[in-house]
Amino acid sequence: MVSQCNFSEIISLYIFSAWYWLVECLNRLFFLKSGLSGQVFMRCEGRTALITGGTTGIGFETAKKLLSFGMNVIIGSNSSAAESEKCLQLLRSLYPKCKVEIWYVDLSSMESVKAFAEKYIHSGLPLHVLINNAGIMFAPYKITEEGLESHMAVNYFSHCLLTKLLLPCIKKSGNPKCKARIINVSSCLHFLSQINFHDLNSVYDYCPHQSYMQSKLCQVMFTRSLNRFLKNSNCPVLVHCIHPGVINTNLYKYVWWAKYLAPIFFQKPEIGAEVAVYAALSAELESKGGKYIEEYSEVKPSKYSKDREMQSRLWNETWKTLQPWLDEVDDIPSDTSE
Ligand SMILES: NC(=O)c1ccc[n+]([C@@H]2O[C@H](COP(=O)([O-])OP(=O)(O)OC[C@H]3O[C@@H](n4cnc5c(N)ncnc54)[C@H](OP(=O)(O)O)[C@@H]3O)[C@@H](O)[C@H]2O)c1
Repeated sequence: MVSQCNFSEIISLYIFSAWYWLVECLNRLFFLKSGLSGQVFMRCEGRTALITGGTTGIGFETAKKLLSFGMNVIIGSNSSAAESEKCLQLLRSLYPKCKVEIWYVDLSSMESVKAFAEKYIHSGLPLHVLINNAGIMFAPYKITEEGLESHMAVNYFSHCLLTKLLLPCIKKSGNPKCKARIINVSSCLHFLSQINFHDLNSVYDYCPHQSYMQSKLCQVMFTRSLNRFLKNSNCPVLVHCIHPGVINTNLYKYVWWAKYLAPIFFQKPEIGAEVAVYAALSAELESKGGKYIEEYSEVKPSKYSKDREMQSRLWNETWKTLQPWLDEVDDIPSDTSE
């Protein structure tokens, strides 16, 4: 049987997390910068964005903002048909001139991700902005039918696979004057993590906090590796990752105290969406890539995440894990370290 994390590990993680969240909340309450006002954006009208987990929380607000900028938006969601229809009606009534659609995808299943990506490619739509937003946090232990731990599957592996399968379309949609962008929604909690390469999918040991933080660290490291790979291949595509802030959403459904404190201390989803939109569209980021963004400016990610050897190890491990869902001829090299 898999061993669970012990009491002292949980307490120390809670203390660390509480410290991070406290600093973040105070920062937001007292020093929050001006948001999107005064920012210069890239051309948006008629361009197409795809966002995962866009029917609730930060993703839903991000979809609204992208639509308000005149973009067409496709949402990848595992909501029921009735919930999706309700969300779609609302978005269409708010932004009647834009194209918005919600397509089913279960990010815990790589088969589902592959089918979703194939549907996208066959639709012939361009893809100027991909926002890998969906996520779960501190969920009970679950290994998917495909053998992946659920945080790693939903937060990390699914988004790597989706990005890889859509890359030909993303590359074609960007151009040197207006690059396509891939945004990974990570978290400041990545600072507290390292990668357990011996047990990436928590087969022997499971701690929900550690799994969440590891998946978010993987996103930061993948952002840097992928951006380097695309830059070396002269592709007009930029990759950034963000911490959206401490935001009151359903993400905290497994955190017992959040229902009491989050409405008072956490920010609204609109604030998190602004960070995602800034990363996706800001003109000042057009000449940069592989950045970790908090509060509308780039911040240094954790020292561990910048380690080239670890990035390279994760990159290789990621494609090895995803091999069953990739084509035989794979244009991603085994290493990005040069
Ligand atoms: N809120 C924060 O304070 C905070 C802080 C740092 C980072 N983040 C990151 O921000 C992102 C968005 O989170 P949020 O706060 O907006 O939480 P949220 O409201 O719970 O949104 C998460 C979204 O992901 C979707 N999702 C979960 N499992 C899925 C699956 N198997 N297949 C497809 N979609 C799935 C959810 O859909 P269902 O509801 O239908 O399951 C939901 O729409 C996450 O990546 C999170 O890690 C949030």
